[in-house]
Amino acid sequence: MTQDELKQLVGRAAADYVRAQVPEGAVVGVGTGSTANCFIDALATDKTHYRGAVSSSEATTARLKAHGIAVFDLNHVETLSVYVDGADEINAAGHMIKGGGGALTREKIVASVADQFVCIADASKLVETMGLFPLPIEVIPMARAVVGRKLAALGGQQAVRVKADGSPYITDNGNQIIDVKGLRIVDAIALETQINSWPGVVTVGLFARRGANVCLLGTEHGVQRIDYAVG
Ligand code: A5P
Repeated sequence: MTQDELKQLVGRAAADYVRAQVPEGAVVGVGTGSTANCFIDALATDKTHYRGAVSSSEATTARLKAHGIAVFDLNHVETLSVYVDGADEINAAGHMIKGGGGALTREKIVASVADQFVCIADASKLVETMGLFPLPIEVIPMARAVVGRKLAALGGQQAVRVKADGSPYITDNGNQIIDVKGLRIVDAIALETQINSWPGVVTVGLFARRGANVCLLGTEHGVQRIDYAVG
């Protein structure tokens, strides 16, 4: 199967999983990215079961609305049973690198109110040690250089994210992203805590303090479900 076919497989599996988990009329938290898009498309076939969704990006909002799924402001939703999203890397503890699509801050906010984080990924995302995928960090633009110097001291090679035309990539929140290559992340919780404490950092794309509860992993042999003990 191609990577796209695996994404579609887990998107459908996640829609079935959510349908079995949440009562009729529930609101679902929805992530961002190509795998999350497959989930949205599958969710749409069942949309009358739900009141709507809370979205993690402008792109996801547009896709949900195009399917006729109502999108609620998180300020009007107190809790979510389930948040479904992709990952750039996930390890055996359910810790993830996210933010390749630039939506890490809203993803982390929406995930924080959900009882369950369901990660959907093709098998290439499962890693032993995180860090091969560049770690994204959303920063307030004026803090780009100071945060960059601190990241350099950690030993990574960093680059400010740019668009295809070379202009700065700007997040939905009006900030910039630094991507850090070459980190071998052995203690993701400690690194998340450390980077998040630096002034000017909005969000680091490590999702370890609040990792995944479940991963639906698309493999050549079908969808494998992995449950994590979240402490
Ligand atoms: C978006 O900001 C990201 O966190 C994505 O969820 C993550 O990058 C996975 O994206 P794909 O499903 O497109 O690989």
